[in-house]
Amino acid sequence: MTLELDLRDLATDIAREAGELAKRRRDEGVAIAASKSTLADIVTEADREVEALIRSRLAEARPDDGFLGEESGGGTGASEVTWVVDPIDGTVNYAFGQPAYGVSIAAVTGPADPLGWQVIAGAVAAPALGEMFSAARGHGAFVGDRRLSVTAEAPAGALVATGFGYDPETHASALDELRRVMPIARDIRRAGAASLDLAYVAAGRLDAYYERGLKPWDMAAGSLLVTEAGGRLGWFETDAWGRRMMVAASAAVYDRLVEVLAT
Ligand code: IPD
Repeated sequence: MTLELDLRDLATDIAREAGELAKRRRDEGVAIAASKSTLADIVTEADREVEALIRSRLAEARPDDGFLGEESGGGTGASEVTWVVDPIDGTVNYAFGQPAYGVSIAAVTGPADPLGWQVIAGAVAAPALGEMFSAARGHGAFVGDRRLSVTAEAPAGALVATGFGYDPETHASALDELRRVMPIARDIRRAGAASLDLAYVAAGRLDAYYERGLKPWDMAAGSLLVTEAGGRLGWFETDAWGRRMMVAASAAVYDRLVEVLAT
């Protein structure tokens, strides 16, 4: 076994346990604990509990690694590996009883910043949908034990997903970008969980996904799923508030989408 495969299997086991806890708490009824930056930017008691579980499991298995979580923060450790974790990605869906939420766990080396890191392993559990996505760098991306690959041919119109972020400043540019993308798209999706949008690009269920202002934990594991499934992923165009645009797509539609978004 290589380090990447070991870390992928660890991420998968912990994501499964964490996903079961999230689902159980959801079934028991979930309360919004607080709104963070805006009304849509919420945290539930389950987000905190699930992150604490993931953090303690990782600390037991790999005490020297760093940790960066959406709810509890963190930093680098003594080893070269940092875990970047979103305990419940798609918290608004989760709070409203919609199934599109994921537990996202990634192992990165280098700085805990998407522009400088290398994601070496990751898992995204979708507990309410009964799916587990995983990848190890150089070893492919999988849902369960089925290997994933992005859509192969340039479609007449691409199925494109996006997200609008939580910051009011991004909403005006998001509408503008949408207006430019719609003419080249077959249709648009806004499912509400970045980790699953990326997993779906990897699985060929979407041709592309783009969003401005994503946080490291929203996209760490999903980005590896996309590249290991043969897709392309890049960061572009910083807006006036310093928020970058991330584009992930099959090779067939990537350049065209980037061109349209940059127009
Ligand atoms: C959010 C979701 C959403 C995306 C936001 C993310 P969270 O993550 O991934 O789809 O549009 O930008 O912050 O807050 O539910 O973990």
